[in-house]
Amino acid sequence: MNILLTGGAGYIGSHTAVALSEAGHEVVLLDNFCNSQKSVLDRLERILGEVLPCVEGDVRDTVLVTRILQDYKIDAVIHFAGLKAVGESFQKPIDYFDNNVSGTVNLLRAMRVSNIKTLIFSSSATIYGVPQYLPIDERHPTKAINPYGRSKLHIEEILADVAASDPSLCIVSLRYFNPVGAHETGLIGEDPGGTPNNLMPYISQVALGKLLCLNVYGNDYDTPDGTGVRDYIHVMDLADGHLATLNFTERNSGLHTYNLGTGKGNSVLEMVKAFEDASGKTIPINIKARRAGDVAACYARVDKANFDLNWKATRNLQKICTSILNFQKHS
Ligand code: NAD
Ligand code: UD1
Repeated sequence: MNILLTGGAGYIGSHTAVALSEAGHEVVLLDNFCNSQKSVLDRLERILGEVLPCVEGDVRDTVLVTRILQDYKIDAVIHFAGLKAVGESFQKPIDYFDNNVSGTVNLLRAMRVSNIKTLIFSSSATIYGVPQYLPIDERHPTKAINPYGRSKLHIEEILADVAASDPSLCIVSLRYFNPVGAHETGLIGEDPGGTPNNLMPYISQVALGKLLCLNVYGNDYDTPDGTGVRDYIHVMDLADGHLATLNFTERNSGLHTYNLGTGKGNSVLEMVKAFEDASGKTIPINIKARRAGDVAACYARVDKANFDLNWKATRNLQKICTSILNFQKHS
């Protein structure tokens, strides 16, 4: 199939481009590079041995998106493009709603004009808000607690209305838990730039000596060791999840929602230990107060994706940590 990846030069998009391309799909990237580097394209070429077509532009540009859909005879779109930093979304809510919500509406309009029926959307576990029970299944109530999360929730609601308006559409929202890790070659990975907000990029910079120690935000949660528990999923498992979803869309129509996670929670201290084991380095830690907006534990029930998509995360914490170390060597 001919697949358009909006935001395809980004962290998850670039890894998915590899998985889809290796599976024989023709992949086209659209990215405005507001949060990615053009060097990713060379690195994708080194991994795949071929150049992936990439259009530099904005998903909010209707004329451009319509032209790409038609010129490349696109069969399905995977929509990664968007802004994703929770803290920043409080400072710049208009940018978040414009980029994420307007960008999606624009894409939907271009798809309608071009008669394209299949859309896979990057949603987030953040839309569940504070977990009312664990593991979180897809029927868990949604209550986003930050502007970023609300933008994702609004989009899911828009997608439901659009899917209801045309039974020939197939729209799938994938709610990612905590994507981490890098491609096994170490050529692509997560490169947040500046001081990272998220745990694994932070730990890896401590291991490199760029940061002195990891601040552990709270050790008094109601979890086995008191630190926060999350569902860390290897980005290549996530990429394979998109490939499985694409296969699913060939046989199905309507609106579908899936959690993509491992189904297992790990604490901050367990992640530190895994990184120490993989790197042979000690990660100094400093226990700090809880971070505002954090929950004690958040991990997925993944039976629905396992069953419907015939997909399962297979890579363990050791693979996650060694892939990050390998990526550091190439950065
Ligand atoms: P990323 O920032 O690495 O990738 C997003 C890409 O989209 C970037 O290359 C950026 O330049 C591009 N982009 C942004 N706005 C654009 C626009 N208007 N037009 C064209 N390109 C644009 O982020 P990621 O981690 O790869 O996340 C991909 C998607 O998955 C996002 O929608 C994000 O909200 C969602 N998501 C990510 C996580 C995570 O932890 N990484 C978790 C849940 C959901
Ligand atoms: C955050 C985002 C979420 C996004 C996800 C991507 C918030 C509130 N949520 O989730 O929307 O989908 O990233 O992976 O920002 N921790 C430390 N020290 C650090 C950094 C983190 O102890 O320096 C702890 C946190 O308290 C938490 C765990 O590590 O318990 C994971 O944090 P993080 O990687 O930021 O992810 P989330 O907060 O789960």
